Amino acid sequence: MDKKIRIGALISGGGTNLQAIIDSCESGKINGDITFVGSDNPDAFGLEKSKKHGITTFVVDYKSIIQNCKKDPSKVLLPDDFDLDDVLSKQHIFSSNTPPEKIRSFFTTRAVAEAKLIDKIKPYPFDLLVLAGFMRNLTPYFIDKINPDRTNPRIMNIHPALLPSFPGVDGYGDTFRYGCKVGGCTVHFIDYGEDSGPIIGQKAFQITGDDTLESIKEKGLKLEWELYSECVDLFAGGRLKTVRMSYDLKNGKKIERNVVKILSQHF
Ligand code: GAR
Repeated sequence: MDKKIRIGALISGGGTNLQAIIDSCESGKINGDITFVGSDNPDAFGLEKSKKHGITTFVVDYKSIIQNCKKDPSKVLLPDDFDLDDVLSKQHIFSSNTPPEKIRSFFTTRAVAEAKLIDKIKPYPFDLLVLAGFMRNLTPYFIDKINPDRTNPRIMNIHPALLPSFPGVDGYGDTFRYGCKVGGCTVHFIDYGEDSGPIIGQKAFQITGDDTLESIKEKGLKLEWELYSECVDLFAGGRLKTVRMSYDLKNGKKIERNVVKILSQHF
């Protein structure tokens, strides 16, 4: 049996996905242990759940950090190693239509919050960072510190839709309102965009005429709990390999993309 992996988690709310991962670690379904749980939200219920399992928790209160930065931008103390041009050249969260001032304000305020997050995480070494209902976009400033080796990403996210459809904050709502006949959830590695990183696993459910947004969320969450544990265990077993694929299209264009290959054995 391989060595257990150390898993850090970030949450914003109820933490049912986190609970599923904790349960899978405790039952041995995942060959790993949760080493810390952090949140951007001091009221996240998942923090209480974690404490009950004896897991270290911490909070970086994004809302108050962002408010303080906006109140007096001239007093914002950016981290010494923050390079705005580098971050702007890498990010895919905002399109070129977004006002530059908005983009600059977003990345500088997030850098302040992310530097605090990094300080809190530092004492707890980990192999994998799982975002379990963490409702904040991570920026290249943070991602590059967690993923120094770009070929081995180690930040995973769960999203409540079948990506690449419906990225953003309301995956089930967007799926429902669009009139989709199938919905689902996706686990993927984080990249510099919003819910755009290489896909690890997906599960789908049927949507019938009787379904409501509530019933869709219920169906989806049950699948999320299974899917997230399965994907974390694939990581723990060394079975996820991210490769750069290149495809030639009939129109002469070329598509390049990082894609996750699931190996039958540890690589
Ligand atoms: C889950 O549905 C998860 O997919 C979603 O938030 C919910 C968190 O529930 N995440 C996102 O929308 C991320 N963009 P939980 O706190 O009970 O795990």
